[in-house]
Amino acid sequence: MKVSQRASSVAGSATLTLATRAKEMAASGLDVVSMAVGEPDFSTPELVREAVRTSVTKGRVRYTPAAGTTSLRAALASTAGSSRGIELTPSQVVVTHSCKHALNLVLAAVVEPGDEVLLLEPVWGSYDAAVSWSGARAVRVASRPDLGPDLEAIAAAARTAKGVMLNSPTNPSGYVWTDEELRGLLAIAEEHDLWIISDEIYRRLSYGDKQATSPLSLGESARERILAVDGASKSLAMTGFRIGCVFGPEAVVKAIANVQSETTGCPNALSQAGWEAALLEEPPEVDGWVSSFKARRDLLVSGLRDLGMECAMPGGAFYAFPSVAPFLDERGSAGFCDDLLESEQLVIVPGTVFGMDDHVRLSYALGEPQLQEALQRLGRFLDGRRAQG
Ligand SMILES: Cc1ncc(COP(=O)(O)O)c(C=O)c1O
Repeated sequence: MKVSQRASSVAGSATLTLATRAKEMAASGLDVVSMAVGEPDFSTPELVREAVRTSVTKGRVRYTPAAGTTSLRAALASTAGSSRGIELTPSQVVVTHSCKHALNLVLAAVVEPGDEVLLLEPVWGSYDAAVSWSGARAVRVASRPDLGPDLEAIAAAARTAKGVMLNSPTNPSGYVWTDEELRGLLAIAEEHDLWIISDEIYRRLSYGDKQATSPLSLGESARERILAVDGASKSLAMTGFRIGCVFGPEAVVKAIANVQSETTGCPNALSQAGWEAALLEEPPEVDGWVSSFKARRDLLVSGLRDLGMECAMPGGAFYAFPSVAPFLDERGSAGFCDDLLESEQLVIVPGTVFGMDDHVRLSYALGEPQLQEALQRLGRFLDGRRAQG
């Protein structure tokens, strides 16, 4: 008996595998510092936990509508709409099991087997898996040297494509698209009739004067080709709740709800209640988390630069993506990360996972003392590499 080709094409998340390995090493007594995780180190807000406890007590633990509860869809339409400066109706929102699941559902709803979907490097590895699982074909487009989007290269690749996936702030670089770049992408999408799949999971974790712009704000006609996904994992420290959503044209939202009704049934009732509470009144912790991530970003990036590494300043999310080009041997970033793990028990993610082998990703979703410790370990390791010539 054999596993299907389709299932075999999905290798499993490289970052989750690394994070698990780090946990196993720590459990075996090693003093591991893991910067592999894409998970806030803060506790889920009390307001969310209280809402879930109340739901359990009151027995609100049954199936919900496949598209999510009416009240959560209304809360999402209202808060997502106002934070993006647009009007959304609940019929343009479908709640999903997570942002990851939202991405899979969106692809299932709009691509046919063999269609090309553009992935913009550096790209979160799970996009490849989602595209391949949908039966479509991922086409990678390299970035500009500053890790921003290369609109000319995107335009060239767009001629034969059906869609493009966008993530701002970006995992792994933290890059935030400018409004001009977004308008450039929209013009390309209009010319070549592409779907724009906009992953906005890190939008609340933006460190500039305002939140990263969503392409949904670019005008009503733009919205006909935009499917935006979001979720509670990153900005509300709700990773284990597995809850997300899609904003898009009614017909696609309806199709997604139908697929969901026949696959998972409906999103988790308790997670929906918890998320709704946090939308109706943003937990007071969140502002503090954003400031704290920003301070950690500054600490980490200036520390990396002091160690002689080239690192663009991330505008959002909680990752830095420095170049390690001068320190690589023939094994590339994977060998660099293996050696670092072996000699310093510091876990970081090789750039190959994101399509850029001369970089590595470090998560700064950890406390300042651990960040300082990580920088010391990395400094020792780089000194060793330099000494080897
Ligand atoms: C870019 C991006 N999108 C989506 C997700 C997944 O979010 P969720 O936990 O809601 O599935 C992640 C998690 O690492 C991510 O980095």
